[in-house]
Amino acid sequence: MIPEQRIADLTRQLNWYNHQYYQNSVSEVDDFTFDQLLQELTALEKEYPQHVRPDSPTARVGGTISKEFATVYHRFPMLSLGNTYSEEDLVEFDNRVRKGLRDEPYEYICELKFDGVALSMTYENGVLVQGATRGDGVRGDDITNNIRTIRTMPLRIHAPGIPPLFEVRGEGFLPLAEFDRINRERDDIGEPLLANPRNAASGTFKQQNSAAVAQRRLDCYLYSFLAEETIFKTHEESLVAMKDWGFNVSPTWRKCATIREVMAYINEWDTKRFDLPLGTDGIVLKVNRYDQQQELGFTAKSPRWAIAFKYKALGASTTLNDIQYQVGRTGAVTPVAMLTPVLLAGTIVKRASLHNANEIERLGVMMHDTVFVEKGGEIIPKITGVDLTKRTDTSQPIVYPTHCPACGTALIRREKEAHFYCPNEKGCPPQRQARFEHFIQRRAMNIESLGEGKIELLIDRGLVQTPADLYDLTADQLLGIEKVFLDEETGKKRVVSFREKTVENILTAIDRSKGQPFANVLFALGIRYVGSTTAERVVDYFGSMDALMNAPYETLANVPDVGPRIARSLADWFADSENRVYVDRLRAAGVQLVSDRKEVVREGDALADKTFLYSGTFAHFSREELEAKIAAHGGRVLSGISKKLNYLIVGENAGPSKVAKAEKLNVPMISEDEFMAMLSE
Ligand code: IVH
Repeated sequence: MIPEQRIADLTRQLNWYNHQYYQNSVSEVDDFTFDQLLQELTALEKEYPQHVRPDSPTARVGGTISKEFATVYHRFPMLSLGNTYSEEDLVEFDNRVRKGLRDEPYEYICELKFDGVALSMTYENGVLVQGATRGDGVRGDDITNNIRTIRTMPLRIHAPGIPPLFEVRGEGFLPLAEFDRINRERDDIGEPLLANPRNAASGTFKQQNSAAVAQRRLDCYLYSFLAEETIFKTHEESLVAMKDWGFNVSPTWRKCATIREVMAYINEWDTKRFDLPLGTDGIVLKVNRYDQQQELGFTAKSPRWAIAFKYKALGASTTLNDIQYQVGRTGAVTPVAMLTPVLLAGTIVKRASLHNANEIERLGVMMHDTVFVEKGGEIIPKITGVDLTKRTDTSQPIVYPTHCPACGTALIRREKEAHFYCPNEKGCPPQRQARFEHFIQRRAMNIESLGEGKIELLIDRGLVQTPADLYDLTADQLLGIEKVFLDEETGKKRVVSFREKTVENILTAIDRSKGQPFANVLFALGIRYVGSTTAERVVDYFGSMDALMNAPYETLANVPDVGPRIARSLADWFADSENRVYVDRLRAAGVQLVSDRKEVVREGDALADKTFLYSGTFAHFSREELEAKIAAHGGRVLSGISKKLNYLIVGENAGPSKVAKAEKLNVPMISEDEFMAMLSE
C-alpha cells in the first residue's frame, strides 16, 4: 500500500480507538496491538513527514519544540466576565437582563467557574487545526502542539451537520491529582515544588517542548461553541452537542429558570466543588437563548448576558513581620513569610509560602506591609496581595539574600530557574540534615525511628557527618544523650532523649536497613533527579553499584527512562571522589549494592521494552537461561498474563490454561524458534 494511504488509514483507525477509549470508555483493541499500530504510524511519519496528518494521534505524545510561539488573532475576541461576590449584585444583574429583554421569558445556564487557563480551539472540516491561549483577548499564542497532548481533546470529530469552521473554548487545567503526583515526584528528586495547580497549568501550556507537556496530563473542560453559522438556538444545545461530539464537557452545569434556582445552585456547589478533580472559584451564569444573548449584547470588555459569581476565598489580612529563608535538601532557597498570627478557616496562620524571588516581585510586597492571606487547595496558606491602603513609612523593600542564610555561601541561580540555590551541598547544615531525613525515610532505608529531632541531635553531637556514619553507631555512644528543643511555633519545650528502649529500636532499624533492596539504597543517596522510579530503572539496567559507578555518561543516557539530564546528574555524582568514598563505606557496612536479580550483561537491544512470559520446556534454554537471554536483549519477564504482556513463548508441554488466557487476551504466542529469530533481528 502506498505510504500516504497507510498513514491516512492508521490515523483514522487509531483516532477511532482513542475516541472509543476516552469518550466512551470502550477498549476495542488491546494495548499491544494499539502500540504496534502507533509505532508503525510513527515510523511512517518519520520517513514521510510530508504526509503527516493534522489529526495524527502521534501528536498526543508531543515531540515538537518551538523556539517561540506564533501569535494568532482570535476570530472572535476572547472576552472576560463581570465579577460579583454578592447575592444583591446577582439580583441586580437579573433585573438588568429582564429589562434588556423587555420582560420576555428567559432561562439561565449555570456552570462552575473553573480555575485554569482559557483556551480556544479551531476546527476545520472537523479537524483540530489550531489551539491558542487567550493572550490579551485579541491575540494569543499558538500552542496547538501542546493542546494536542490533551488526551480528552478530540483531534478530529465526526458528526453530521458541523460547520466547516468552528471554534470551541474552554478552561485548560492540571487535575489536582496530577498536580499532587508531580509535586510528590519533585519532592523525591529535590526539586522545588510547584506553587499551585493554576500556575502549574499555565506554565505547562507555555512550555516549548511538547513532549514535556505530554508528560503532565493536562485536561480541558469546554464551555463555549462559536461559528459563523447558527446551528444551535441555545447554549444548552451547544453543551449537549459538544458532549455528543466527544468534547470534555463537565456534567456540573444546570438550567435554572429563576435567580432563586441560581442561588440554590450556588449554595449546593459551595461545598460540593471541593470534590471535583480541579480547582473552581465560583460559578458562571449565562442567559441560555442565543438570540437573547445577542439582544443583550456586550460592554467593551464583557457580555451583558453572563456574569461570574465568585465564592469568597477563605482569606484574612495580617502583617508581614519577617521572612525566613529555608534551605531544602538540594539547596533550593524558599522564602517563608512570618506573619502576625491570624485566624483563617478555623486555624491560626503564622506563616505563608512566598515560593521564590519572582513571587515577591510579582506581589510587590514590602516588609511590614499588611497582606492578604488565603487558603486554597494547598496545605500552606499563600499571600495573595498587599493592602496598599495600609502601607506606611515602616514598610521596607525586601532585600533578597545574596548568601545562604544557614552557611553564608554565595547563592547561585541556575539558568531559567526561579529559585536561588546554596551550592555548598556538603557543608550546609540544613542540606545535610535534609539529606539524612531523605536517607531514613521508608521508601529509602526505612530507619524512621530516627526522625523527629533525633538526627539533628546526632549531628549536633558530632556523632554523624554522613548517613554512612549511622552504621558505626554503638549503644554506648547513644545511651543517655538528650536535648531540649524549643518549638518556635508553639513556644513549647520538647525533649529528645535516647533511652534504652529507643536506642535498641534505632540500632535494630539501622541493622535491618542493610537488607533494603539496592534500588532503595540508590534512591536514598539523594542524587538530584533520581526519584524512586528512576532508581528502579537504573538498578534494573545495571544490576550492581559497580556496573553503575563505572558507566560512562553515554551508557547512562541510554537507559530506558533516563534522559540526558538524569544521566548528567548521575555521572557527576559518581565522578566526585567523596561520593565514591561514601559508597565504599556503605558497602563496608554491608548495605546492598547488588540487585536481587542477576547482573545483566547486555548483548543487544532487539527486545528493548518488550515483555515476555514463557510456558513449558525448551530445546535450547533452561528457564534461567531463557530469562537471562530476555534480559540481556533488553526485554522483561512478567509474572503473569495480562494485557501488558507482549509475547507468550510457548514451549513443549506448555500450560493449557496459560495458552487459553493468552488467546483470550489476544496476546501473541511465539515458538522458541521465533523467539530466537527475534534475538537476531
Ligand atoms: S465563559 C465571554 N464559562 O473565566 C466570556 N468562562 O473571566 C466567556 N472561565 O477567561 C467565558 N470557567 O477562562 C466561561 N464555565 C465557564 C468558565 C469560564 C472558567 C474563565 C475563562 C475566562 C474567565 C472569564
